[in-house]
Amino acid sequence: MKIRKAVIPVAGKGTRFLPATKEIPKEMIPIVNKPMIHYAVEEAVLSGIEQIIFVTSSGKSSIEDYFDRNLELEQFLEKNGKSHLATEIREIGQMTEVTTVRQKEQLGLGHAINCAKDLIGDETFAVILADDLVVNKEPVTKQLLTISRENEGASVIGVMEVERSETYKYGIVDGQPIDSKKETYKMNKMVEKPKPEEAPTTLATPGRYILGPEIFSYLERIPKGVGGEYQLTDAINLMASEMNVLAHIFKGTRFDTGSIKGYLDATMEFALMDEEMRPDIINLMKEKITAYEN
Ligand code: UTP
Repeated sequence: MKIRKAVIPVAGKGTRFLPATKEIPKEMIPIVNKPMIHYAVEEAVLSGIEQIIFVTSSGKSSIEDYFDRNLELEQFLEKNGKSHLATEIREIGQMTEVTTVRQKEQLGLGHAINCAKDLIGDETFAVILADDLVVNKEPVTKQLLTISRENEGASVIGVMEVERSETYKYGIVDGQPIDSKKETYKMNKMVEKPKPEEAPTTLATPGRYILGPEIFSYLERIPKGVGGEYQLTDAINLMASEMNVLAHIFKGTRFDTGSIKGYLDATMEFALMDEEMRPDIINLMKEKITAYEN
């Protein structure tokens, strides 16, 4: 069955980006000239997803507005000879079907996903965390959808190799490879932020998931976990103890754009990826390095 829906939770408080996130949703902070959320939705659309479900909270309406048409702006741009910009703006408003559901209290990622239960119904769906930006020709969600399809519609968790010394920063997957290339694993469980010497593997889980609708019954069963929040990890662990859950090493470069350092890294990368901007950016960087090193 085709996977049509993606849940993008955007209800978090974005405390690592305060004070910017006091009034602006973290997801609307731009990387070069597009907000973070644009890249997440673009990934979903390029992966064949037809409906985006944003899990929002108060103060996040600009995210919904961004994916709506702005006829006044389009007309203004057309009138002023900027029809290429008018087209770009129009296309954003036509990118995909967007639905929102409110998470009234920020009780964790697991709780946020559970808020989308009625909109998902009995379908397998994708989850994309907009503050984990992954750059790759074939979108990461598309890669995971392929693995799910090839494995009887199993739930698939996107994983990436990290340095052993870094495992304490991530959820780490424990599992056995099921293919000769050792890219896809049958998951036993996920361990939250293990010390390097205790990590079962070095496969970390940034925010990309394909989840069967069964996840909702597990989300109902979990108690509050780390930080007093309902953790998606706990529900996935419970699911993996009773069902086939896979982890797949995706191709791509991931940026943690929810942190200041990762955000700056992604901004530089995206500016350098733009061929027109690249020479200026390289010159600027050289000037700054010279100025600050002296
Ligand atoms: P984070 O752990 O990055 O939290 O959430 P955050 O609030 O966005 O940012 P910091 O850590 O305080 O700086 C991971 C994802 O889960 C969503 C967030 O919006 C983000 O996309 N989330 C988290 C919710 O939607 N609801 C929650 O209750 C918690």
